[in-house]
Amino acid sequence: QSADIGVIGLGVMGKNLALNIVDNGYRVAAFDLDAAKVLAAEQQALTEVPQRGLVLKGFDAMPELLQSLSKPRVLLLSVPAGKPVDGVCQALIAAGIERDDIVIDTGNSLWTDTIAREQQYKDKFIFFSSAVSGGEVGARFGPSLMPSGDKAAWEQIAPIWQAIAAKVDSTTGQPMERSQPGQIIKGGEPCTAYIGPSGAGHYVKMVHNGIEYADMQLICEAYQLLHHGLGMTAAEIASVFEQWNQGKLNSYLIDISAEVLKQQDPLTGKPLVEMILDKAGQKGTGLWTAVSSLQIGCPAPTIAEAVYARAMSTQKALRQQLSQQLAGPKTHVDIDQRQSLIDALEAALYCAKVCAYAQGFQLMAMNAKEQGWQLDFAAIARIWRAGCIIRAGFLQTITDAYVAAPQLDNLLQAESFAGALSALQSKWRQVVASAVLNGVAVPCISSALAYYDSFRCATLPANLLQAQRDFFGSHTFERTDKPAGEKYHLNWSQSDRTLVKID
Ligand code: 6PG
Repeated sequence: QSADIGVIGLGVMGKNLALNIVDNGYRVAAFDLDAAKVLAAEQQALTEVPQRGLVLKGFDAMPELLQSLSKPRVLLLSVPAGKPVDGVCQALIAAGIERDDIVIDTGNSLWTDTIAREQQYKDKFIFFSSAVSGGEVGARFGPSLMPSGDKAAWEQIAPIWQAIAAKVDSTTGQPMERSQPGQIIKGGEPCTAYIGPSGAGHYVKMVHNGIEYADMQLICEAYQLLHHGLGMTAAEIASVFEQWNQGKLNSYLIDISAEVLKQQDPLTGKPLVEMILDKAGQKGTGLWTAVSSLQIGCPAPTIAEAVYARAMSTQKALRQQLSQQLAGPKTHVDIDQRQSLIDALEAALYCAKVCAYAQGFQLMAMNAKEQGWQLDFAAIARIWRAGCIIRAGFLQTITDAYVAAPQLDNLLQAESFAGALSALQSKWRQVVASAVLNGVAVPCISSALAYYDSFRCATLPANLLQAQRDFFGSHTFERTDKPAGEKYHLNWSQSDRTLVKID
């Protein structure tokens, strides 16, 4: 019997996606250059669902893989972004892939590469993409999937995608957890939706990761403030996070952070977190998000600060040296103010998180406009409610905001967020002030506050900036009392300083 789908690349993500597809009743043909990985995947499927026989069959040659699939073929690629994707595409061409076969890139590819690939391979096969979020466990038991490209290809793969995606209970909005091999979830809203033309899905996933960077860094800043500012232990901070996880901040990232903080180091018995070197890695998606925001001119400072925070973390030797050289404040948070600061921090984290999402969603909207994509933001928020790394109760509030007003320019306009941030802003200020006074860097929490305060400000000092530009470079300025687009220049270097209207 032919297989329904081929999976190429049996690393952690590919193998788990393959097993997830098998759980949902499909037959998988699996390929990897590493024969040991092929065998391991085959064995795992046999052990997990023995009653179904060899429903995951491994191959170590592309032509046989292609022969084993029903036509038109569907192939899921789970290989590192960049050159490996093209390497596999070329190998598929050599092995005889056909024009109406569908090749789905599930990696974190750069969205412009995806657009180029759709064009490059269009005479050979249909190059489709579906970004995946959720890490190893998500891939195995229900990820969030962001498919985009040829609409007819989507219609063909949709049943598999809807089956393997994470599910949300439509009445409660809560994730329907699945954690056992062989188990499937009936009903529920699948965390996948067609995002748009080629490139749109990878762009949306890229921004998801930009938000993920900000979300993670915000939690790290809270940890830093509680640890260095208030002198709390990892275990104490874990219980604060556990409490927060019951409220507005409920999310996967808060949940795992609490768990991390409770973990003891097997070697020393100390909190593991304190034994982990403070140098963060990155693979590029956060950076791409920040770069895209700069190129488009969409303010996304909290996302950009999260990328800078990772860069700053890598400058360990210089930080160690400067920690001996640069003075800081002598103040310490008064122990009596501890609970009040913890409460304020919960509010600050929520406000900053809203700003990070507002930045990400506005960025997607601005790029969609440039690219001519019709993105459905309610649907995007909906498919992030479960399965993905930034899953959180809060995504339902974003969904509701976009259902009520699909054309929102910025999430801060939604009454639910405007009201909440207005009510909590004084606590947010208290946190930033306290961090500044105690010399604890909170770049994301504070940049989000600056973002909020800038949007609150009907008149920014860009009037002076325009004057400076006109002064040294005759760059002209518009006037508040004249129609938009009319340009003026003051002859700064002449003694009479006449005002000239530029035609
Ligand atoms: C996800 C993750 C996943 C991965 C990224 C982030 O949504 O499942 O975002 O795609 O963790 O590669 O990686 P870096 O932190 O290494 O950039």
